[in-house]
Amino acid sequence: MSSSDSEPRTAPGPRGDFLLGSTLDFKESPLEFISYLHRAYGDVVRFRVGPSHWYLVSHPEDIWDMMVHRSKIFLKPAVARRLWEKFLGDGLLTVEGDRWKRLHSLMRPAFHKRRVNAYGTTMVDYTHRMVDGWEEGQSVDFNEAMVGLTLEVVAKTLFNADVRAGTGTVAQAMNTLNVEMLNHIHMPIPVPRWWPSERNRRKMAAIEDIEKIVRGVIAERRSSGEDHGDLLSMLVNARTEDGDGLTDTELRDQAMTLFFAGHETTAHAMTWTWYLLARHPAITERLRADIQEVTGSGRLTVEHLSQLPYLDQVIKESMRILPSVWVFMKEPTEDVVIRGFKIPKGSQIMISPFVTQHDPRWFPSPETFDPDRFSPERVKSIPTGAYVPFSGGGRVCIGKSFAMMEARLIIGSLVQRLQPSIPADYQPVKQAVLSMQPRDGLPTTVVHRAP
Ligand code: HEM
Repeated sequence: MSSSDSEPRTAPGPRGDFLLGSTLDFKESPLEFISYLHRAYGDVVRFRVGPSHWYLVSHPEDIWDMMVHRSKIFLKPAVARRLWEKFLGDGLLTVEGDRWKRLHSLMRPAFHKRRVNAYGTTMVDYTHRMVDGWEEGQSVDFNEAMVGLTLEVVAKTLFNADVRAGTGTVAQAMNTLNVEMLNHIHMPIPVPRWWPSERNRRKMAAIEDIEKIVRGVIAERRSSGEDHGDLLSMLVNARTEDGDGLTDTELRDQAMTLFFAGHETTAHAMTWTWYLLARHPAITERLRADIQEVTGSGRLTVEHLSQLPYLDQVIKESMRILPSVWVFMKEPTEDVVIRGFKIPKGSQIMISPFVTQHDPRWFPSPETFDPDRFSPERVKSIPTGAYVPFSGGGRVCIGKSFAMMEARLIIGSLVQRLQPSIPADYQPVKQAVLSMQPRDGLPTTVVHRAP
């Protein structure tokens, strides 16, 4: 149980600066700061960001309780809704209540396994196309390559569009948004969205760049009425039991949401996996041998994946140790008690996969990259709620199977063709923007394997 019978207490935590609380520590190095909070103060920590109290809740039982048993009172924070509304509108990621239920039931079929599996060939083809363009010994920023590749995949699977030529603009727009949104969250007194600051102008221009593409494709799908086999066709044709479908604005909001949520998260997860593989040649070799045994000299396909449990374990362990979504937030709609500590209605609660997945109580030797943690025998000892890279409960990531399939197919195909190689002294700096990424990219040297 997460609550106790005795009088609830105020959670422990740092006092911070008189005016700003812990805003600067949090802004400066969020991962180090919240890891420190957990180590120093325990499973429920209270700290101040600007005028408001935030809580870090890290015990698996409490995380599960919020996501599953008491999900009705732990909603997405209103501040997140406000932050995203200009960009994502009423997207699935941020809406609540009946609106979420309706959207979720309309969108769910588009993420059906059979439908998602059909995208496997695109993922593999695009990966090979990328590697075909790389020369032996060439230097490549692997992170940039993955962001470009996932962008191509999401554009193809969402809109049936080939955005290779436009990758630069869209990727740049996404990056601007990422940085500006986070700055906005961390400002003690945020500049209002309508204020014509340089930052806000940059943000709006980035949103418009992406939106232009999205609106164009929706109009085209509506007028042709054809099923192009992509996610947007599914959404245009989706109907509830009452025959009711998504309006153009709702479609725009969902397309922007999927575009946003479905691309950098997966790209960064794969970048971290490649980094870990480069640092663990024995694991890479075991993985390569497994893949070769199943595929021979042929390309990896969706059908092979069920015979490659170690590939699945490698991706899962990489997302444990370096989760791209390092935090997500909840806001209780009433006063609650967690682990004997009172948390007032409207507080901001952080759940950090990074923090909980590095807790030695649930993951012994947490800094060790050990894919066998997820072997059928050992996975049972991981407590429910301790491994949450995709969140959980009703609001679990709708793209989870899509992302896991994409990561397995792309990393598996890359291992078939390349030897992961990064400079021995390169230490990536973890940058916790909306999705955690290596601040200066991941410099790699292309080393092809002999065919
Ligand atoms: C490794 C890749 C990914 C990770 C780590 C990830 C993680 C997450 C997490 C933690 C949430 C919950 C966020 C919150 O509660 O605030 C979420 C929600 C969501 N994700 Fe993902 N995601 C990934 C890939 C994708 C992909 C590929 C798509 C779509 C194609 C996608 C679409 C969504 C959507 C629409 C939601 C909102 C779901 C809802 O609230 O019902 N994600 N994701």
